[in-house]
Amino acid sequence: MIKEIERKLVTEAEIQHIVSRIAGEIDRAYEGKHLLLLAILKGSVVFMGDLMKKIRIPVEIDFMKVSSYGGGTTSSGNINIHLDIQRKDIQDCDILIVEDIIDSGRTLAHLVEYLKLKGAKSVKTCTLLDKPSRRVVDYNADFVGKIIPDEFVVGYGLDYDEKFRALPYIGVLKPEVYQK
Ligand code: IMP
Ligand code: MG
Repeated sequence: MIKEIERKLVTEAEIQHIVSRIAGEIDRAYEGKHLLLLAILKGSVVFMGDLMKKIRIPVEIDFMKVSSYGGGTTSSGNINIHLDIQRKDIQDCDILIVEDIIDSGRTLAHLVEYLKLKGAKSVKTCTLLDKPSRRVVDYNADFVGKIIPDEFVVGYGLDYDEKFRALPYIGVLKPEVYQK
């Protein structure tokens, strides 16, 4: 373990177990549908890579890059879209958004509405990690990997200041790393 990590929260083995379980749930829920996995850059790329390999039904993939903003006093927030989905046939797609973690809930809540307005046939969400205690917007994902406590985690795609994304496990960052 590297020195900036306080402890492992989800090991590589547990991650693979979780991803296999979610892939099975997706196989059952989307059989016969036109499944489009939509990963949210950059945090969900590692999860997406593992998840798509474990799903047995045919899948297509796409990517969006977004950042959430929303003043401390507003509960609605909003999202900035830096890279939009590029598809002409969105009305035929059953979109499953693949996210690394849900915190306030703003990103997914807004993205679901945005994609529905764009005309997607259906829009559901899948998250590897969920911090329900941090919710600002009332939103819950359709497929959830693991509920975690209110601690800042990195690894398996998740970053702090663009670092630690390549760790194969999910670890709690030592507070001194971000309290500097
Ligand atoms: P939300 O809109 O507040 O739900 O934002 C979720 C986004 O915040 C995720 O996609 C992550 O990029 C980021 N995030 C939230 N919690 C963590 C964490 O513990 N580690 C790393 N990124 C996080
Ligand atoms: Mg992020």
